[in-house]
Amino acid sequence: MTESHEQTTWGVGPWDGPWPTEDFYDPELLKNGDTRNVLDHFRYWKMEAIIAELDSRRHKFHVAIENWQHDLNIGSIVRTANAFLAAEVHIIGHRRWNRRGAMVTDRYQHVRHHPTVEDFVTWAKEANLPIIAIDNVPRCEQIETFKLPESCVFLFGQEGPGLSQPAIEAAEVVLEITQFGSTRSINASAAAAITMHAWVQQNLF
Ligand SMILES: C[S@@+](CC[C@H](N)C(=O)[O-])C[C@H]1O[C@@H](n2cnc3c(N)ncnc32)[C@H](O)[C@@H]1O
Repeated sequence: MTESHEQTTWGVGPWDGPWPTEDFYDPELLKNGDTRNVLDHFRYWKMEAIIAELDSRRHKFHVAIENWQHDLNIGSIVRTANAFLAAEVHIIGHRRWNRRGAMVTDRYQHVRHHPTVEDFVTWAKEANLPIIAIDNVPRCEQIETFKLPESCVFLFGQEGPGLSQPAIEAAEVVLEITQFGSTRSINASAAAAITMHAWVQQNLF
């Protein structure tokens, strides 16, 4: 069974039998049960222990999102970044972001704030990470045929305006997800999920 094949969707009750002695177990969860949205493998683990375990094997791609309008998609993007084990999530713009779609996955994710696109670009340069913007704008290339680097930061725009001009100009390349219907675009969090999975397919399989 792979880790993604879960048995206990709704959580587990108090620990049955003698308590385990390993330090990563949380006595409160052993006593009361664990209904958190975590893999079965992590049931009853302390949150810090889960984060430490994830930190030991995070992938090398980062995810950045412009946050000027409290877009509901940001939480969903954070949740997907957690699922695909992004190194870090970057919020560009307002510090407060819409956490609703994150389903508390942000607690297990490193989230860094950059007040402006300029601040974000400075950070990316220092980290030696190419900025790969994801949007369907003129002169973009297709993600389907582009070799996604192992280390990079994907930059997404918001519902409505899409990526800002400074964000597009800061990118090494802009990639579109090829569409075939009549709509101008897909939902931003759907675009982020497709992008992260494209990275997984290219770099891990
Ligand atoms: C709703 S789109 C808005 C902008 C879009 N450029 C337009 O012309 O309507 C919001 C965000 O979702 C992502 N997105 C949506 N559809 C996309 C596609 N086909 N290719 C790449 N990114 C897309 C981008 O990050 C974009 O900034």
